[in-house]
Amino acid sequence: MPLNSKIEDPSNHDWKHNDLADRFNTHKAMDEIHPDAAVNIYVGWPVFFEQIKYQMEFLGRDKLNILDFGCGTGEFCKNLHMKGHKVVGMDKSDSMLEIAKGNSPHDISYCLKELVDSDGECSIFYNQMDVITAMHSFEWNKNIDDIVKDLDKFLVPKGIMLFAVFPKGHVIESLKIKDLFEDFDSEENPTEGFCNFDGVKIPVYIKDPTYFDDIFKKMNYEKVLEFYPQLPKTFLEKYEWHAAMYPEMVILAYRKTV
Ligand SMILES: C[S@@+](CC[C@H](N)C(=O)[O-])C[C@H]1O[C@@H](n2cnc3c(N)ncnc32)[C@H](O)[C@@H]1O
Repeated sequence: MPLNSKIEDPSNHDWKHNDLADRFNTHKAMDEIHPDAAVNIYVGWPVFFEQIKYQMEFLGRDKLNILDFGCGTGEFCKNLHMKGHKVVGMDKSDSMLEIAKGNSPHDISYCLKELVDSDGECSIFYNQMDVITAMHSFEWNKNIDDIVKDLDKFLVPKGIMLFAVFPKGHVIESLKIKDLFEDFDSEENPTEGFCNFDGVKIPVYIKDPTYFDDIFKKMNYEKVLEFYPQLPKTFLEKYEWHAAMYPEMVILAYRKTV
């Protein structure tokens, strides 16, 4: 092999790339946070908090056990903990988890998990969770259905899975304006392609809500929510959002019935 040949670094296609811990930097001051991460805080978190409140009312409890799948640098876990919940954060990126652990109180548990497919260190939390959250954490996995089935092991009956993913309409609009999304199988019906985070290209898999409806129906879950939050004016002004205006996330929730 010639000495100057470019050897592709596999971490350029993986969430374990260290640069991504700085891109999804929700642990920093609000004016240092990247707009792609701030959108989760401004648009996604309020809906998640509201649904968790409904779940508390549904279960008649004032504290819940909550697992945040794909917790990243842990700021959402910290906010849940401040609201009094017992929190577990799970992520496959050790650099993200290192930041999360460094910034969090000790009674938040973090576990490193590549795929939730076996009895690893996280299995001590099986059958305990009243809520599982996943803020833009599912769509980077080709085998989303396997991950959902494995996450089911952590949830108690009547527990909810509450998550946000990219809606197809947002990806279609982003491809038109050449923002973030690229190299997709189709411009009109994009299902597989990449998100380019300043040179780190992560494969991404776009699923319609009906895909999740089918998975959860087979698992005897009932649908609780399908919501496309708008981008608030305060957010658009503060972060000079130049990305697609189609809602950046669809938030879905399903309740385990048995
Ligand atoms: C877009 S970031 C979102 C991070 C965080 N939820 C937030 O709102 O800032 C996606 C996160 O999901 C994690 N992730 C993706 N697939 C995963 C998997 N199969 N197992 C564990 N973590 C995963 C990544 O490591 C990354 O931290």
